[in-house]
Amino acid sequence: MPRPIALVTGASSGIGEHLARRLAERGHDLVLVARDQSRLEALAKELEGEFGGAVQVLPADLTDPEQLQLVEDRCRDRSAPIDMLVNNAGFGSFGAFHTLDLETEVREIQLNVVALVRLTHAGAAEMVSRGTGGILNVSSLAGFQPGPMNATYGATKAFVTSFTEAVHEELLGTGVSVTVLCPGFTRTGFQLAANVPEGEVPGFLWQEADDVAIAGLDALAKNRAIAIPGQLNKVLGAFSSVTPHAITRRLGAAVIKRATH
Ligand SMILES: NC(=O)c1ccc[n+]([C@@H]2O[C@H](COP(=O)([O-])OP(=O)(O)OC[C@H]3O[C@@H](n4cnc5c(N)ncnc54)[C@H](OP(=O)(O)O)[C@@H]3O)[C@@H](O)[C@H]2O)c1
Repeated sequence: MPRPIALVTGASSGIGEHLARRLAERGHDLVLVARDQSRLEALAKELEGEFGGAVQVLPADLTDPEQLQLVEDRCRDRSAPIDMLVNNAGFGSFGAFHTLDLETEVREIQLNVVALVRLTHAGAAEMVSRGTGGILNVSSLAGFQPGPMNATYGATKAFVTSFTEAVHEELLGTGVSVTVLCPGFTRTGFQLAANVPEGEVPGFLWQEADDVAIAGLDALAKNRAIAIPGQLNKVLGAFSSVTPHAITRRLGAAVIKRATH
């Protein structure tokens, strides 16, 4: 039996790296996508040594249409079909929207939304034609309500959650599982890259990237529409879902204001 192949975007660090590790441990060959080729190559070498199987490195900036096309093409390659697609690459930005660099905000939409949509389309079409496969899209609890000082990021993640839930429903009965993973605060380099002020988030809210990765893969294996890792995050998610935005956006703004002054 050939080993199933999983393609993971944003595999060079954080949650994506842990998703790749856990998939290798569960018997998958891998295609690792991110911009940092040397980190991907080091991870590939390590995973091949530890778990056997083949690990391909496919360096790409997914905000670049030509490089994104190469990854879409890999998703459509029938000579070595992708059995599992993990759309994990993403970044955030922090600050009042009008003060942020517009090109960075647009790149955020290109990565978090456009690349995810294009790759989901390429992967789903092939998987449905084969009657088997799985797609895990990484969103965020930040998508459950408008996020003052995090406006673009929250909006991209609201899109990812809504989009993925809808595709999950469309593909029921096709043999293709689709899950959206909505983590809360997770210990990775993400907050630093997003310029979130240090020390603002209380310790009890944080989760480890490996726990988040396992929760996502377990939920996909059960074809759950949505996975929220951690009990506290589940409560926060439920609160955000039933509370009017007029309240959650003001609450969010007040919390951010207090934490950053
Ligand atoms: N950490 C959190 O608190 C948290 C909470 C909720 C949701 N999330 C979501 O979890 C996902 C993973 O984030 P993380 O926390 O693991 O952060 P991270 O450690 O910063 O990882 C982000 C990954 O995305 C890749 N990436 C960034 N820009 C890219 C581009 N233009 N093209 C291709 N790959 C790119 C990065 O690799 P290169 O730099 O090598 O390209 C890296 O592998 C994101 O979608 C994020 O929104 C994170």
